Amino acid sequence: MSVPVLTIDGPSGAGKGTISRLLAKQLGWHYLDSGSIYRSLAIAVLKQAVALDDVDAIVNVAKAMTLGFECADELVVKLNGEDITAQLGLEKTGNTASIIATLPEIRAVLLQKQQDFKQPPGLVADGRDMGTVVFPDAAHKVFLTASSIKRAERRYKQLKEKGIDANLIGLTKDIEERDRRDRERATAPLSMASGALFIDSSDMTIDAVITQVLDFIR
Ligand code: C5P
Repeated sequence: MSVPVLTIDGPSGAGKGTISRLLAKQLGWHYLDSGSIYRSLAIAVLKQAVALDDVDAIVNVAKAMTLGFECADELVVKLNGEDITAQLGLEKTGNTASIIATLPEIRAVLLQKQQDFKQPPGLVADGRDMGTVVFPDAAHKVFLTASSIKRAERRYKQLKEKGIDANLIGLTKDIEERDRRDRERATAPLSMASGALFIDSSDMTIDAVITQVLDFIR
C-alpha cells in the first residue's frame, strides 16, 4: 500500500513546525520534524566535545546515537535515553546543526532514519530537503517561507515568552547566516521542489496557511 507523504520545506522560522504538527493532527498522520534529528546530533556532538571539522568522528556519533520521539502536547526527544527536549531549541544547537548539516557524509547517515518515519496512514515531514531528497516521490509538496525580519520577530517573541533574553538584530543576523548556509551548501541545499505549492506566510495567520495547504492536498 502506498503511504501518502506531505512535505513542508522552507527556511528556519517560517512556521513549518507549528503548521506541520497541526496538519498531522488534523489528517491523523505521523509527523517527522527532520530538523530535530540534525539538532539531536548537534547536541550529541557538543556533549562529546567532537570538533566540527572531524567528519569521521561526527559520522561515528551519528551512527551510534539512538533517538526516541514521543508526541505528547509538545514533541519530547530522547537521545540515548536522555530527555534533550529543553536543549533542542537553543540557538547554539540550531547553529551547530546547520554547520553539521553541510556534510554529505552526515546527511547520508541520517537519510534512512528520516525515511523510516514513512508509515501508514500517512506522514507530514518538515525540513529543508524533504520534497527534493528524502521523499522525492511525495504526493504533496509545500515550500513555506516568510521574510527574515518576520521570522526573527517570531523567534524573538518565542524566546521572550520563555523568559530568555534576546536581541532582534542578532537574531535577524543569525537567521540570515543560517539561510545562507542552508541554501548554498553543495549537498541537498534548501530549494523549492518542483511542483511544490509556494506559500509566503509573512502576513498570514496559522489558520490561513493550514486552510491553503488542506485545499491544495484535497
Ligand atoms: O528546522 P530546524 O531549524 O530545526 O533545523 C536545524 C538545522 O538543521 C537547519 O538550519 C538545517 O541546516 C538543518 N536541516 C537540514 N535538513 C533538514 C532539516 C534541518 O539540513 N531536512
